[in-house]
Amino acid sequence: MIDQEMPLPPCNFVIFGATGNLSTTKLLPALLRLEQAGRLPQALNFIAFARRDWDEAAWRNYMREVLSGRVQVETEVLQRFVARFDYLRGELHDPEAYARLKEMLSRPKLGACSNIVFYLAIKPHDFPPVIKHLDAVGLSKPRGLHRIVVEKPFGEDIESAKVLNELLHRYFEEEQIFRIDHYMGKETVQNLLVFRFANTLIEPLWNRNYIDHVQITVAEEGGIDRRADYYDQAGALRDMLQNHLMQLLTLVAMEPPPALEADALRDEKVKVLRSIRPIPKGAVHAHAFRAQYKAGVVRGEQVPGYQDEPGVAPNSITETFVAAKFYIDNWRWRGVPFYLRTGKRMKAQLSMIALRLRYPPQQLFRETPLETLEPNWIVLSIQPSECMHMELHAKAPGLGMDTRVVKLNASYRSPDERPMEAYEALLLDVIEGDRTLFIRFDEVEWAWRVVDPILTHWATERDFIHTYPAGTWGPLEANRLFDREDTEWRNHV
Ligand code: BG6
Repeated sequence: MIDQEMPLPPCNFVIFGATGNLSTTKLLPALLRLEQAGRLPQALNFIAFARRDWDEAAWRNYMREVLSGRVQVETEVLQRFVARFDYLRGELHDPEAYARLKEMLSRPKLGACSNIVFYLAIKPHDFPPVIKHLDAVGLSKPRGLHRIVVEKPFGEDIESAKVLNELLHRYFEEEQIFRIDHYMGKETVQNLLVFRFANTLIEPLWNRNYIDHVQITVAEEGGIDRRADYYDQAGALRDMLQNHLMQLLTLVAMEPPPALEADALRDEKVKVLRSIRPIPKGAVHAHAFRAQYKAGVVRGEQVPGYQDEPGVAPNSITETFVAAKFYIDNWRWRGVPFYLRTGKRMKAQLSMIALRLRYPPQQLFRETPLETLEPNWIVLSIQPSECMHMELHAKAPGLGMDTRVVKLNASYRSPDERPMEAYEALLLDVIEGDRTLFIRFDEVEWAWRVVDPILTHWATERDFIHTYPAGTWGPLEANRLFDREDTEWRNHV
């Protein structure tokens, strides 16, 4: 689905922050895979914009080094990919660097076509200077031509998000702006749409009549790497919940769109966000819980506590774990709690959406071992295992009335089919001009509105945070969010 009014595919792609964590771990490997799949336009050139005092040769060596450990490709493909790059050494705040960028883009090799993608793989507080400098040297013009890709978090609250949006709109049309949330590029996430809207079997169950509650978990074993300067300001709520988990929530809860088109899909997502019941000022503790990891053991290895991570303030109370409960006040979901949780340094890597179904209306098996029957679940596991199944009860073979859980498996891919990285799909969409999986500003704004009461309240409580040992599922106190005592977090697929 390509927006008709978009110009031809770009032939220059500038990566700001090319040596940073995001570029190294996600963008470059994904672009290389697109090269391998023959999906990069032949005329596409890249400019790596970064601070390191390197020349082209040093940059290319760096690329070969980081990529050969990450993506398995034939040498010839890697060479072809590396040859597409030019390196521009520059500071993001230095106007001279943008003059050099402009000059580079007008050289015969790069100037063959005028469409450019600017990818801001940089810290959010660097977005404004880059946007302004691009304009100052005329690189945002002609209006309507280039594309700009902005990473999350988009702002740090509603107000800053609006300011950033206004700034972008001063120089770019909405059609040129690609607000990226890489969770939308994950195949398992897209499969959720297919699972829901391509199967008649599912739709009748997908509502308050059958679903008891929904859990969305994104648990990570990893810590904050070397991102303390960003993370200590952001915390888990801004880094993960306001965007990735909220996007998952919208896809679980939304109504079928009239068509799978960019705006139709995004209209439905916004309707969900607008229907989320605002958390009353005095009820934040009943709806949200935060905590921070202490030292502990992850995968058999001793790891330091958050406050001892390099670059983190020793008395920081930034949350590395957040759990929250939301209600969606519409016909489909009224009264069904949505429990969201995410954390760093958790016991296992686990991203999953789990829907617990209601108990059967009659306890027919009361006098049998089935008395303690577990409820049914629908589990959509996003990563690391990519599976989707429904858990049902079946009689265990034998004389007694014993039962066992059987799983109806609906995975989208067999083990021998290669998974696609989220950024592969999204980068190709940027190049092709398809904005379906990108975030519209009203989604960003409503998502900030939803979490705003939590942020505001937490900002007033600056002297205490619960803790959990690294390598665990987070503090037990997070269970206080549950409406009923028979609810517990599901920690496995
Ligand atoms: C990023 C966050 O957006 O997503 C990181 O900034 C987080 O803190 C990452 O680790 C998780 O992404 P994925 O694809 O590994 O689940």
